[in-house]
Amino acid sequence: MARLPRPLIVAYGGAILLLLFLVSPCRAAAGGGDRPTAVVLPVSKDDATRQYVTTFRQRTPQVPVKAVLDLAGAMLWVDCEPGSYASSSYAGVPCGSKPCRYLKNAGCAVTCLDAPSSGCLNDTCAEFPKNTATSVSTAGNVITDVLSLPTTFRPAPGPFATAPAFVFTCGHTFLTEGLAAGATGMASLSRGRFALPTQLADTFGFSRNKFALCLPPASAAGVVVFGDAPYTFQPGGDHSKSLIYTPLLVNPVSTVPYGRKQKMTKYFIGNTTIQLNGRVSKEKPTDYFIGLTGMKVNGRVVSLNATLLAIDKKGVGGTKLSTVTPYTVLERSIHKAVIDAFARETATIPRAPAVEPFELCYDGSNLRTTRAGPAVPTIELMLQNTAAPWVVVGANSMVATKGSVLCLGVVDAGTEPQTSVVIGGHMMEDNLLEFDLEGSRLGFSSYLPSQLTSCNNFRLG
Ligand SMILES: *[C@@H]1O[C@H](CO)[C@@H](O)[C@H](O)[C@H]1NC(C)=O
Ligand SMILES: *[C@@H]1O[C@H](CO)[C@@H](O)[C@H](O)[C@H]1NC(C)=O
Ligand SMILES: *[C@@H]1O[C@H](CO)[C@@H](O)[C@H](O)[C@H]1NC(C)=O
Repeated sequence: MARLPRPLIVAYGGAILLLLFLVSPCRAAAGGGDRPTAVVLPVSKDDATRQYVTTFRQRTPQVPVKAVLDLAGAMLWVDCEPGSYASSSYAGVPCGSKPCRYLKNAGCAVTCLDAPSSGCLNDTCAEFPKNTATSVSTAGNVITDVLSLPTTFRPAPGPFATAPAFVFTCGHTFLTEGLAAGATGMASLSRGRFALPTQLADTFGFSRNKFALCLPPASAAGVVVFGDAPYTFQPGGDHSKSLIYTPLLVNPVSTVPYGRKQKMTKYFIGNTTIQLNGRVSKEKPTDYFIGLTGMKVNGRVVSLNATLLAIDKKGVGGTKLSTVTPYTVLERSIHKAVIDAFARETATIPRAPAVEPFELCYDGSNLRTTRAGPAVPTIELMLQNTAAPWVVVGANSMVATKGSVLCLGVVDAGTEPQTSVVIGGHMMEDNLLEFDLEGSRLGFSSYLPSQLTSCNNFRLG
């Protein structure tokens, strides 16, 4: 496929929008048969990119689609270019329809002069799919198509539940650059109205809008569970009751790094003309923040600047979770405080030269390996309204680099990052995290192997 030009952005002053307000509920409905109480996505880790990848089925005839999981982003996007997308069941979401009006950042793909295809339709709602791993964004059609997911997990994926008209955005082939091999899009787990959690809960009528995320380390399997299911792990049984909860916070300002301010009113991409909805200037914040109030290393409080831990009026500061950030990223003063505290508590362990992007490294042959990974001091994340901290053990804090060198897996974000603490994928691996959108709370288990199980041992059905 030839590389499409990046969107040419043209200011179009004084445009008068004549949009047809077509009445089209365009609501995804559950497929025939019984409504599932839960559906699952398998998760694996791509070694080369450190992204977490999932597979679901889509289109008619159905094909497996591989996509990178993202806790941010507005909704699912996949490459819809004619060579990558074939289906007899797609339909455009019309510009004036309810879903399109709901998408605050949407525009209208008014005309497309190529041969009609999923990515080339007239009068179709347009959105701005983003590759959040590379920070590249484009414009594309919002369409619906069949999507199906397994209702059981292990030993084999069981019967599939089908959403006949699942809403998503069409990306382009160039937008998939930088994604894990074979991935043709990104699956959003955000709080966005059309991201997977809320759209699946609506489609299948789940009793509660929530999902659980269990990210695997490389070469193991993890899972995302949508809906109401017991979190059963073998051996040991149901972990649903043993989670500790902290409030999920909404940053008043979107932290998605681009597309926040749409000053222009008209885009051209290829042969498509996209007219933006002029009234809209801001994307709704969709990512997940938590209230980190402090940290301890080896049980001792690390002194941190409380201003940085709070989210200010401009949306700066605070702590969010990100699956496309491989390692936890900390504002410079927080990074220094954590590194210094960790160094003090490990003064007797021989150091190794630093390995980029990390600062504090050890000769791993001097560290015992335990069930909880390398035997190093724990880092405790003190969270708002919790009785117990999120305990980060060696397996989640230490990163094996070249040779036998192990480094503390935190990265310096510089002095003025938008978000002070971004908890990355490595720190969340083999932790069960429940994102309860209805209760606005995050449940966490801390490191499952310390409780004699792992994400790889999840069972459903
Ligand atoms: C869109 O409308 C234009 C003008 O009527 C037409 O030339 C074009 O073929 C249509 N495109 C599609 C994809 O239907
Ligand atoms: C625009 O459409 C024409 C006619 O279908 C085609 O030849 C041309 O390659 C298209 N341009 C782009 C940039 O897609
Ligand atoms: C804490 O951080 C804020 C925001 O960056 C800064 O203005 C303030 O000076 C810092 N306080 C201390 C004691 O370093």
